[in-house]
Amino acid sequence: MPRPVYNDAAPFYVAFVDRMLADPDSFWHPLLQRYDELLGPDLPGQRVLDLACGEGHLARRLCAFGPGSVLGIDLAPALIQVAAERADDPRLSFRVDDAQTLATVPDASVDVAVSKLALMDVADHRALFQATARVLVPGSRFLFSLLHPCFEAPFHEERAPRFLLDEAGERLAYRIQTYAQEGPWQSGGSGVRGRLGAHHRTLSTLVNDLLAADFTLRGLHELFSAPSGLLAQVPQTLLLDAERRP
Ligand SMILES: C[S@@+](CC[C@H](N)C(=O)[O-])C[C@H]1O[C@@H](n2cnc3c(N)ncnc32)[C@H](O)[C@@H]1O
Repeated sequence: MPRPVYNDAAPFYVAFVDRMLADPDSFWHPLLQRYDELLGPDLPGQRVLDLACGEGHLARRLCAFGPGSVLGIDLAPALIQVAAERADDPRLSFRVDDAQTLATVPDASVDVAVSKLALMDVADHRALFQATARVLVPGSRFLFSLLHPCFEAPFHEERAPRFLLDEAGERLAYRIQTYAQEGPWQSGGSGVRGRLGAHHRTLSTLVNDLLAADFTLRGLHELFSAPSGLLAQVPQTLLLDAERRP
């Protein structure tokens, strides 16, 4: 099993999650609402799997829509422990598993798979797609988000900053310098990507590998982080709505 980098950083990441959820202007709120809108009506009675669930807030949220069960899996035992402590519904369960293999999840035992802002943390996205296709009932949904690969492409706070600033220090434009360079990267600085890094893939790699893993694409949603300015013009988040081929 790969080394769970989020395990040692669990207190840091949980504090980050709590700040994002407490901030009414956080871009996480419109993203979470999109999960509600796209999935909510289809969830009653369903067996849901949250891949790379972290401390479990998406899994907890989806319970409001009446699923039969919601299982969250993550590679980091320390995050699974927090998720279990925070579980507030008997239909919720959490356990350590690798989303690249899903060894603890039987074939065709999941009606809906979700994942929030985690695909760029998974070393082998193809393995995740294949494992997810295996555990999903044919014809069922897989809704997952990630930092938008076209705009949140590898950058480094000092060597290759993400934003081009105007004379007043306001963000003028995104600088995309290494979009084609796939693989692990680290942004420098003290944020999540500075501390924990990420794995970059181009949009075509991502979509073509999803299709090759026996999924079709129902929709592709780009979300913006701010109501005005640069971040209202350039999407930071990509949400893919896929279906396991029948
Ligand atoms: C940015 S966090 C997102 C967590 C959660 N979905 C959220 O929105 O807060 C990325 C998560 O991916 C998990 N992760 C990375 N590789 C994984 C793998 N191969 N299998 C399961 N989880 C993995 C990390 O442990 C971490 O919890």
